[in-house]
Amino acid sequence: MTEHPTTPAGKPTSYSRVTLSRIMTAVDVNLYGTVHGGVLMKFVDDVAGAAAARHSGGTAVTASIDEIVFSEPVRVGDLVHAHAQVNWTGNTSMEVGVKVVAERWDSAEDEPVRVATAYLVFVGVDVGGAPRAVRPVLTETAEDERRYKEAEIRRAHRLAKRRAIQAHRAS
Ligand SMILES: CC(C)(COP(=O)(O)OP(=O)(O)OC[C@H]1O[C@@H](n2cnc3c(N)ncnc32)[C@H](O)[C@@H]1OP(=O)(O)O)[C@@H](O)C(=O)NCCC(=O)NCCS
Repeated sequence: MTEHPTTPAGKPTSYSRVTLSRIMTAVDVNLYGTVHGGVLMKFVDDVAGAAAARHSGGTAVTASIDEIVFSEPVRVGDLVHAHAQVNWTGNTSMEVGVKVVAERWDSAEDEPVRVATAYLVFVGVDVGGAPRAVRPVLTETAEDERRYKEAEIRRAHRLAKRRAIQAHRAS
């Protein structure tokens, strides 16, 4: 287990792990008859928010959706599970990774299919909405450690992009 530097006592990655499940219905579809991407985005934000709140022990707001990839369509009747965990923590922010899988309604014995992957940044906030310190996440497995390091890469890219755009606008 690796302890990353910050002040309050940390929590292991498994502490924040949470799964939401639901069956997709006819109200969830787009014009093509498959599930609307926005429905999955809301589902992803909900499960990520639950993981962030659990890890940080209080209110956390979505600061950004870093990436969301829809890899396979979801159909009406599919049982969809969204698995989330806190991958990385900064001072007040957390990266939450979400994996969404579908059990096909017409082939329930098959392995669930990965339908989406997302990375979101949440910020712990106090009652006034100001950022508050969040406890560090403690990686438990080699996979957690890989996710932690990849979250750092995404953060570095995000910050570099912001700096480059600011420099461009100032030029
Ligand atoms: C998220 C929010 C609390 C950040 O407040 P802020 O005063 O800009 O915060 P700071 O600049 O001090 O940054 C605080 C942390 O948030 C991170 N952060 C801020 N904006 C971010 C962004 N767009 N993307 C990723 N991280 C961000 C910073 O990197 C910092 O992380 P760290 O403390 O771990 O280093 C504020 O922008 C907010 O309330 N936004 C609205 C959130 C909301 O309502 N979401 C629901 C969608 S309707």
